[in-house]
Amino acid sequence: MSLPLSKIGKLDRMETASIDELRHEQIQRLRWSLMHAYTNVPFYRKAFDEIGLKPMDVNCLDDLAKVPFTTKSDLRDNYPYGMFATSMSDVVRIHASSGTTGKPTVVGYTQGDINMWADVVARSIRAGGGHAGDKAHISYGYGLFTGGLGAHYGAERLGCTVIPMSGGQTERQVQLIQDFEPDIIMVTPSYMLNIADELDRQGVDPHKLPLRLGIFGAEPWTNSMRTEIEERLGIQVLDIYGLSEVMGPGVGMECIETKDGPTIWEDHFYPEIINPETGEVLPDGEYGELVFTSLTKVALPVLRYRTRDLTRLLPGTARPMRRIDKITGRSDDMLIIRGVNVFPSQIEEQVLKCEPLAPHYEIEVYKEGNLDCVDVRAELRFNASGEDLRDNAARELAHHIKSYIGISTRVEVQDAGSLARSEGKAKHVFDRR
Ligand code: DLL
Repeated sequence: MSLPLSKIGKLDRMETASIDELRHEQIQRLRWSLMHAYTNVPFYRKAFDEIGLKPMDVNCLDDLAKVPFTTKSDLRDNYPYGMFATSMSDVVRIHASSGTTGKPTVVGYTQGDINMWADVVARSIRAGGGHAGDKAHISYGYGLFTGGLGAHYGAERLGCTVIPMSGGQTERQVQLIQDFEPDIIMVTPSYMLNIADELDRQGVDPHKLPLRLGIFGAEPWTNSMRTEIEERLGIQVLDIYGLSEVMGPGVGMECIETKDGPTIWEDHFYPEIINPETGEVLPDGEYGELVFTSLTKVALPVLRYRTRDLTRLLPGTARPMRRIDKITGRSDDMLIIRGVNVFPSQIEEQVLKCEPLAPHYEIEVYKEGNLDCVDVRAELRFNASGEDLRDNAARELAHHIKSYIGISTRVEVQDAGSLARSEGKAKHVFDRR
């Protein structure tokens, strides 16, 4: 089912550059970015001055380890525009990500930044097997969230016909997917499931639609979820990674030739993996927290931004640039249950193993006395019903979770369609402790 390589358009020069050329370009760009941030952002100047570091002291990529980290709270403390490196008259766009608490994180772009972003998203869609002339249905939310507009500009840049649907209005999404016949859908995996349920509800056979490619991201998801959606819809599903602070969608993208984790577009975003406790840089291949330094951004340069995303760096396959492994989760999403570290994605893996269960789930954590307790709610697949089936599925899931993850849970299996559905990023965890 994969696309012949001859149909993948011409690659950018930096996508095929040798590692030596790439590293050479990165160090030049890094030195520019450090100087730009130091000269124009008081926060960075102060951070460098406090440890007696000058941008010129960074002579090779390994020297980057001398530069202090930037965190989400640094962006919040400088709300709204304190981290910008240009005057507001050069900023043509603002996005913001709503935090769970407090003020949002505000990010800004010059016209040049918007152009670079469109280029890397176009590159990402092309890496996924999209090309000029494809119709791209975009169900990432439009607005302050970077998903919708980020995908939109990139798809236009590649030469696609864009259907700017945004999130929500699920019945209408399904109607327009039938009428407008998109080739590509860009959406969160959890909202895709919601749309797939609506296709079923309306009696539409997804295998008869022209849709051939799904570009999913914005939330952690598993390869089991990929297989589930690919089989259900008869499309190729690829992983796009990104975050607002670094740019938005398109910091990395999986390539259709290999489907083995997003290639990081290292010519613009320099990745490192650190030990989240000590801050020490870890060698490629080791798991830790992903950190990015922007190499070309003008309005909002970020130096060693701590993403909180846990993964590892892997060698390039379809491109010389390095890849990341699937994000296991965010360090702030990790649940500690009676001393065991658990990520929601591990529970997802187990739900997807149980044949009678739909790929929807909720995890509720609470205390009984001093003990952590976990309830997992799942639901039967469309067209499946019956108390026996529910009880057996609940027992099977609890058993899998106990044997693979090592925690005891109370599992409740409900009828198809009972759990809340997402229209963007799913909320799987309710921690009431
Ligand atoms: O979610 C940007 C985006 C939009 C990426 C559309 C891909 C597609 P934020 O709202 O700032 O930006 O959230 C960023 O989402 O740090 C990860 O925790 C998570 N995330 C994004 N992409 C992936 C992915 C957008 N492919 C945060 N896999 C990041 C796992 C992802 N997690």
